[in-house]
Parts: sequence; structure tokens; C-alpha cells
Amino acid sequence: MVDKKSHIENELDNSNNVNEDIIRMDPSSESPALDLEIQDIEGIGPTTAKKLKEAGIISVMDLAVTSADELAVEINASKDSAAAFIMAAQKLLRDSNVLEKEFITADVALEKRRSMLRCSTGSKVLDELLLGGIETQAVTEFYGEFGSGKSQICHTLCAIARQPTEAVGLDSNVIYIDTEGTFRPERLNQIARARGFDPTHVLKSVAVCKVYNSSHLELIIKDLGKYINDFKAKLIIIDSIISLHRAEFSGRGTLADRQQRLNSILHKLIRLSEIYNVAIVITNQVQSSPDTFFGDPTKAAGGNVLGHASTYRIYLRKSGENRIAKMIDSPYHPYSDARFTVNERGTDDIEDVKKISKKASKDEIFE
Ligand SMILES: Nc1ncnc2c1ncn2[C@@H]1O[C@H](COP(=O)(O)OP(=O)(O)OP(=O)(O)O)[C@@H](O)[C@H]1O
Ligand SMILES: [Mg+2]
Repeated sequence: MVDKKSHIENELDNSNNVNEDIIRMDPSSESPALDLEIQDIEGIGPTTAKKLKEAGIISVMDLAVTSADELAVEINASKDSAAAFIMAAQKLLRDSNVLEKEFITADVALEKRRSMLRCSTGSKVLDELLLGGIETQAVTEFYGEFGSGKSQICHTLCAIARQPTEAVGLDSNVIYIDTEGTFRPERLNQIARARGFDPTHVLKSVAVCKVYNSSHLELIIKDLGKYINDFKAKLIIIDSIISLHRAEFSGRGTLADRQQRLNSILHKLIRLSEIYNVAIVITNQVQSSPDTFFGDPTKAAGGNVLGHASTYRIYLRKSGENRIAKMIDSPYHPYSDARFTVNERGTDDIEDVKKISKKASKDEIFE
């Protein structure tokens, strides 16, 4: 009895955590997952397939990025059978070479990282801080006080993402999830023009979704895989990730619920970034932390849940006319600062910095 319970618990633990650890899209594969059907998954017959469809899970990829807790509720099944379905979906994707095997050697991992895509932020120094721009297969968080340039970076990324990869774009469309009502097509138009891009082409490439409450945001994230496929987006922006939850779950008694909801959104985002090979950019606010005696008394909102979920965290602050970005958390970037500005081109280099040569390039890093 004890053995059986621990086995199920193990399975559940695996199904909740595996996704972040082992799901990575093989960049060399051209979406063979599109040919796979839910019924191809071992152990899933027509009845379960029907239930899954009713819950909005129509592809093997959809199932592979779901969490066991969520799925159990949606299809009214036990957590362990939900976990088993998810694992079977992941196995099918691995067997079809869409996902990496559980273990790969480090040289193969490095080879895969080389083919990861990067998108410029519009500022060379900010790109240098990010070692070449924002990455696909990662969640990048920009946090900072009001006016620090978070939304400006998002708008600039939108204009650049549509550009070819040789111009450090992603040659793709963008999904912009606007929770604060601050997306401005006029600003995107201005940035595109100032950079010499075709503004109509850029404006047509950005799908904007205005979100009004936290449940709406959760629903959008739930179906994000489908939107990514339908809209062929390689960049997803959520500006901002926490404001709605922060406003709606403000009482002390609701904190645990809020953190749990945010946690589930963020883990889904990580899985999506890896499985669909997309760059996900989120913005976050700051909260003052009066216990800080030295330095800047502000820290990112959202506590540990957010801190552990983003792959990279960049802190932005105003410095006169300019902005300073600081890499706060990254598995491999050095801790460093970058000064940039915001002008009609969106995020841009400060005039005298424009002449400074590049310190670190993508090639150096991979040598
Ligand atoms: N067209 C423009 N030309 C020059 N600077 C601009 C332009 N548009 C916006 N800015 C600058 O960007 C600032 C606003 O930055 P942004 O909207 O990115 O703030 P934010 O970090 O998103 O703040 P919030 O937390 O309030 O959302 C303005 O205060 C202004 O300095
Ligand atoms: Mg903003």
C-alpha cells in the first residue's frame, strides 16, 4: 500500500515537474508534431480523446504542456490518470523526435543552444547585456518602476520581431497580451517608421489581446499554444504579468490562492517557450522592500513564485533622461549594467554609447 502510494506520488511529482526540465523542442525538427493525433497516444481511446477535446485539448502538444492538476479537474479524472496521459503524450513527442530525450550530452545541448533564435531589443548595449537579444526557449522578465521603459521595450520588440533573422529579428508574428491597456498601435507605427521598417507590415504582424481580469488572463494562457500555432508567433509579450492578480487578490487571506494561480501561469509559460521554441517576455512591477538598508529599496513583485519562474530577470530603472538595465538573475549571464534611452525609435542606444564596440557576442559565448 505504502509502495503504491509513493509510486503514484512519484508519478504526480514527475508529471508536474518534468515539463520544465525535459521538454525542449528539437530546433532541427520542422513540427512533425502537427501530424500526430491525440489517438496516437498510448492508452488514449476515442472516449478519452472526446473528453480531452471537450476540455479544449485537441493536439498532442496541448496535452504535453498541461499540468496534471489542471487536467484532472478538466476531464474529471483522478490526478494519477491525468498524469499518465500527460506522460504518454510527452513520450510520443520524444519518440517522434519533437522533444529531447530525457538525457542528452552537454555537447548536443550546446549544439541545440546554437540554433536558438534571438531578437534584438533595439539597443545594442541592452542586447549585449542579454548576450545578443532575448532568446527563444526562455521567459525573460523586465521589471521596474512606472516609466522605467518596460512597455517601451515591448513595443520595440514587436517592431523588430517581424524583421528577418539576419537583422536580428525573428521573422515572425507577435502575440501581445495587454493587461494594463497600455499597448499603443500609434507608438508601434512610430517606432517602425523611425527604424525604416514597413509600418503596415509590422502592425499586421502583432495580434493584440486586451485582458480585463485575472480569469481572462488564465484562459488566454491556457489556450496560448493554439494561438501560437494559429498566428505563427515566435514572440509572446505579457505586459504586465501580475497587475490583474495583484489587484484582485489583495487581502492577506487570498495570497496563497494568488501565488498558486501565478505559479501555474508561469510554469505553463516556461513549458510553452520550450515546446514551441518561442521567446516569452513578461513585465513586472516593483514593490518597496523597507528592510533593504543599502542600495535600491525596491524588488520585483510576486515574490518567490515569479523569481524562480523567469529564466532571465532584468531590473530597469530611470536615470535622468536615460534608463539603466541590470541583469539580476540568469543561469549564465554575467551580472552587469547597461545604459540605454527611449526615443522615437523605441529603446535605443545613448548617442555616445553608440560608438562603443561590442563586448560580448553570441560567437564568443559559444566558442
Ligand atoms: N515617443 C516617445 N519618445 C520618447 N520617449 C518616450 C516616447 N514614448 C514614451 N517615452 C518614454 O517612455 C516612458 C514610459 O515608459 P514605459 O511606458 O515603458 O513605462 P513602464 O515601465 O511600462 O511603466 P508602467 O509601470 O507605468 O507601465 C515615458 O515616461 C517617456 O519617458
Ligand atoms: Mg507599462
